[in-house]
Amino acid sequence: MAVEILPVQVEAILAIRSRVLRPDRTPEQCRLIEDDEAATCHWAARTGGAVVGCVTILPQRVPPRLPGNPPPINPIVDSLWAGRSGWRVRGMAVLPDQQSLGIGALLIEAAVAEVRRRAADLVWCYGRLTADRFYRRAGFVPSGPSFDTPPTGLHHLYLMALGSGEGA
Ligand SMILES: CC(C)(COP(=O)(O)OP(=O)(O)OC[C@H]1O[C@@H](n2cnc3c(N)ncnc32)[C@H](O)[C@@H]1OP(=O)(O)O)[C@@H](O)C(=O)NCCC(=O)NCCS
Repeated sequence: MAVEILPVQVEAILAIRSRVLRPDRTPEQCRLIEDDEAATCHWAARTGGAVVGCVTILPQRVPPRLPGNPPPINPIVDSLWAGRSGWRVRGMAVLPDQQSLGIGALLIEAAVAEVRRRAADLVWCYGRLTADRFYRRAGFVPSGPSFDTPPTGLHHLYLMALGSGEGA
């Protein structure tokens, strides 16, 4: 079935966030404080009229220290990236029965294209290790040690440096 990737308001994707990423939270509890900020962008993947996946990007600097509980042994992010301005990918999710069909790849492609369009040169996220192959395939590189954020498990900081300029 054809997949459409559409810019949406956050309300269209809260249920997917809850179901795929945080089943311990209601859709309403899956709102992020940055969700309604002017620069934040959300996309939904739709097949047959139903929303089956989502992603969000927002401008945010790479933090100088990694989060985690307990904190990682080496909490300092590579000094090349710490504090750099960039765009953060959040809420990357595809419904279980729609995974491994390339929908996640389409969503991340839309997100990265938007970052390029805004002439920014860095995309980053805290990615679950269970999605490591997905992020690497999309062009992200893990940086620093993995860290644990219960209940969502082990994560890496993933970085993608974009070439300068449109279409680089
Ligand atoms: C991680 C996640 C978003 C990826 O979405 P997805 O739609 O499954 O991703 P894709 O289909 O693009 O890629 C997944 C795999 O399918 C493969 N694939 C890509 N296009 C494909 C196609 N047309 N047909 C079949 N397989 C395809 C990819 O090569 C990839 O394989 P790999 O595991 O060997 O790398 C999704 O699996 C998910 O929601 N997981 C649970 C939540 C999660 O971990 N989110 C990330 C939080 S940080």
